[in-house]
Amino acid sequence: MTNNTLMQEDLRYIFHPCSQMKDHETLPLIPIKQAKGSYIEDYEGNRYLDCISSWWVNLFGHTNAYINAKISEQLETLEHVIFAGFTHKPAIDLSRRLVALTPEPLQKVFFADNGSSAIEIALKMSFQYFKNQGESRPLFVSLENSYHGETMGALAVSDTGLYKEIYTDILITTVQAASPALVSEDEAIESMRRVLQKHQGKVASVVIEPLVQCAGSMMMYNASYITRLRALCDAFGVFLIADEVAVGFGRTGTMFAVEQAGISPDFLCLSKGITGGYMPLSVVLFSNEIYNAFYCDYHEGKSFLDSHSYTGNTLACAAANAVLDIFENENIIETNRTRIALMREQTQKFRTLKNVKEVRQRGMICAIELQGYTAEERIGLHVFQEALAKGVYLRPLGHVIYFMPPYCFTPQELHTMIAVTYEIVDALCKR
Ligand SMILES: Cc1ncc(COP(=O)(O)O)c(C=O)c1O
Repeated sequence: MTNNTLMQEDLRYIFHPCSQMKDHETLPLIPIKQAKGSYIEDYEGNRYLDCISSWWVNLFGHTNAYINAKISEQLETLEHVIFAGFTHKPAIDLSRRLVALTPEPLQKVFFADNGSSAIEIALKMSFQYFKNQGESRPLFVSLENSYHGETMGALAVSDTGLYKEIYTDILITTVQAASPALVSEDEAIESMRRVLQKHQGKVASVVIEPLVQCAGSMMMYNASYITRLRALCDAFGVFLIADEVAVGFGRTGTMFAVEQAGISPDFLCLSKGITGGYMPLSVVLFSNEIYNAFYCDYHEGKSFLDSHSYTGNTLACAAANAVLDIFENENIIETNRTRIALMREQTQKFRTLKNVKEVRQRGMICAIELQGYTAEERIGLHVFQEALAKGVYLRPLGHVIYFMPPYCFTPQELHTMIAVTYEIVDALCKR
C-alpha cells in the first residue's frame, strides 16, 4: 500500500471537509497509517509533527496508552446505549466532574456529539427559556469575525465570509457586534450596548468565543471584555453563551477561558479536547435555574426535546473521564506553563522579520500573522507544503500561521515546530 494508491482510491469516493477537492489535482492528499504521541505517520513512513492537534482536538498525543486502556476497558462492558430513558456510569461520572470543574452556577449537563450541535443546543435552549415564559425572543447576538460551527444555527451566529454568505438566504437572522479582537475593548462594549439597546426584549442570548476567535485567524482579546460583557448581559437580561469548543480544556492556559474573566456564562459549550481527540462528544452546561424552566408535566410541552442518536456515547464518556484523570494526575495546567513560556520565548524572533505583522499568544495558542501577501498567492498553502516537506504539520488560516500543539510536546518538539516555521518564514522574507 502506498500513499498514492490510497489517495487515488480516496479521490474516487470521498468529498473531504473544508476542502476544494480540485486542489488535490496538484496537492497530495496524505493517507495516514498510524500515529503515536506528537507524530502522525503516512504509508511511506514519513512522520509529521502534529502542531495543530489534529484540528485542535488532541490533548495528550495520539494513541495515548492511558486513554487507549480506558476505552478498551469500557469496550468490554458497554459501547453505547440510547441516552433517553437509560443512563450509564461514565456519563454520570463525567457530568459530576465537569460540574465540579466549571463555575459554580453551572450545575446541569446536556450531551451531544459535536461542537456545532452544542451551539445549536445553547441557542435553542436560550430561545425556549423565554418561550416557556410566554415571551418570544427571536434574535441572537454574536461577535464579528466569530466562528461557531457549520450547522445552520451555528453558521448563522458565525461571521465567516464565504462559508456563511452562500447560505444567507436560508439562515436565521442574527446581529453581530464589534469584536474586541478587532477594535478597542471600549468600542466593542459600546457596540454591544448599542445592539442590545436597539433590540431590547428581542435578544435571547449573546454568544462568544472567550479570549480567542480561533477560526477567525486566531484573533485574541482580553478577559476584561468578558467580565464587562457579563455585566452588560445581566443589565439587559439576556443569556451569555461561552463557546469553549476550541479554547476549553487548557488551551488558553487555564482549564476554561472564562475563569480568567472571573465570571460564569449561562451556557458553557465544550467539545473537541473533551475526549482528548478520540471520539466525537460535546456538552452544554447550564444552571439549575435554566433547567427548572423546562421542568414540568409532560403535557405542558415545555421540555427541551432535542436529541442526537449518539448523545452521551459511552466510549466517548470513558475517553473524557480518562482525559480528566490525566489533567488531575499529571497536573497538566501547571506543567503547560513551561510549554507556554518556551513558545513565547522562542517565537519572539519572528517579530524581527519584515513579513511578520504580529506574533500573538494566549496560553497554548500562538499565532504568527504574515503581511504583504495577496489572497491569490495562498501563502498559507505554501507554508503548509514547505513545513510538511520538513516533517512539520501546520495548517495556516490564510496568512496566519498558528501553533496549537498537544500537551505532550517535549521542549525539543516545540523547538522543532518553531525553528522549522522560522526557517520558512525567513526564507519567504528574503525571497
Ligand atoms: C469555537 C468553535 N465553536 C464550534 C465549533 C464547531 O465544532 P465542530 O467542528 O465539532 O462542529 C468549532 C470548530 O472548529 C469552533 O472552533
